[in-house]
Amino acid sequence: MVNDDPAAAPAADGDDRTDVLVVGSGIAGCAAALGAARDGAAVCLLTKASRPDEASTDWAQGGISTTRGDPESLKQDVLAASAGTADDAAVDVLVENADEAVLDVLVDTLDVDFDRDGEEFDYTREAAHSTERILHVDASTGTHILRPFLQYVDDHDRIEVRDDTAALDLLTHEGAVHGVLTDETPSGQPIYATATILATGGIGSLYGRSTNPDGATGDGIAMAALAGADIADMEYVQFHPTAYAGDDPFLLSEALRGEGAHLLNADGERFMPDVHPDAELAPRDVVARAVADERDRTGDVFLDVSTLAEPFADAFPNLASKCEERGIESERIPVAPCEHFLCGGIDVDDRGRASLANLYAVGECSRTGVHGANRLASTSLLEGLVWGLRAGETAAVAGPGEPTGPETVDPPELRNSDPELPARFAAEKFTRLRRTMDAFLGLERDLDDVARAGSVLRRLKGEVDAYTRTRTSRSLYELRNACVTALLIAQAARENPESVGCHHVVDDSVANEAPGQ
Ligand code: SIN
Repeated sequence: MVNDDPAAAPAADGDDRTDVLVVGSGIAGCAAALGAARDGAAVCLLTKASRPDEASTDWAQGGISTTRGDPESLKQDVLAASAGTADDAAVDVLVENADEAVLDVLVDTLDVDFDRDGEEFDYTREAAHSTERILHVDASTGTHILRPFLQYVDDHDRIEVRDDTAALDLLTHEGAVHGVLTDETPSGQPIYATATILATGGIGSLYGRSTNPDGATGDGIAMAALAGADIADMEYVQFHPTAYAGDDPFLLSEALRGEGAHLLNADGERFMPDVHPDAELAPRDVVARAVADERDRTGDVFLDVSTLAEPFADAFPNLASKCEERGIESERIPVAPCEHFLCGGIDVDDRGRASLANLYAVGECSRTGVHGANRLASTSLLEGLVWGLRAGETAAVAGPGEPTGPETVDPPELRNSDPELPARFAAEKFTRLRRTMDAFLGLERDLDDVARAGSVLRRLKGEVDAYTRTRTSRSLYELRNACVTALLIAQAARENPESVGCHHVVDDSVANEAPGQ
């Protein structure tokens, strides 16, 4: 249902029906909302976040890649970083639309204050990029993009933003998606939509250490999988090589290595030149495994920022102040790998269409094929922007007509009788889930251990399912979503014996043999 008259400009109409429902408020969700609203649709943007810093986008540091007029060169870098596994046609979509999307939305519409060198943009470089082509604001690019973007969608006549509202399940009828059930009071409210676009972000909360905000529980992936949508490439969980090694980890952007920072082992030796010809600028999966190996071998690993071209505090003031807050006074910052990004997700086409009618997915919860087995730095914001716009535009015109009415689905009644107990229950189960993921589905995987992890996760999900039959709360649904997503990762990892990109299979059969065998 498209409304072509901008003057009339209705947003979601208050009856909880809308043309396009977007779930998630990072760059991909905002871009989807913008794309749909620009094409005349009434949009409801639903987010469980109390904005703005609960979206991964707000935490993004390094920047957003452009092609700088050379799409072929960016394409070759994306393909190389993915070890040749990225989908050629999907990468073409990314690189052919990159510069126009960045210019149109981020520069012309939102006026993002990207760093400049005089009149020109100050492009930077990160690992596995062959040239300087990344736009950034200090190393806090995500905040500088997301805050104006949220303001823009909030002010838009056709977009209604509902924050602090979680989508719990997709509403489906005869294989098509008609909106979502939310946790709005009193007992769970449906929102019906002609098209539903999931933009729920990543899975960081499944691991003990992550660069994502706490709410990254794989919600969209789990809801889509439970509704029967195709999911792909779930074994490719990317670990960032350089997060602060202490408690409460934070990301130390790849831009630091792009600008000359080195990795040193506990003996003060630089080790990356022996690992890869591109040394610290090797693909992220290679550097992450090397950092982990060197920590095992020598103790700590440090990111040495004394070799930056400009003083650390001048070039990266936000990171310097984070270090100061943690009492890190040295220019050698202790680092360790940390869960960062899921390359797989809800399988979608070049316009974000999933395998179920009326369902779309964009951003980290989707699998476009752009990243293959390992994502190139500073392409996640770009993918979210490009696919968000395309999905929003497509959803605005492709709907079958009037949204399906409430009579087609019978939303389950939610029971909120004991909100405290589920939170405690969820916290305990999350601890077990994270221990399992850290131990068996981290940087290196032994396939027998992965199979054992699958059994643990299945039992855990059984316990959670039993509990959700009698009580509910947002945290229980997040736990259910995390269990479903973890099982999908375990299953995909088990089914893929080949080490490639982020999925590194170790064969410890030799190590496990008894001496003399
Ligand atoms: C970083 O700043 O190192 C992260 C950039 C990215 O994940 O693409």
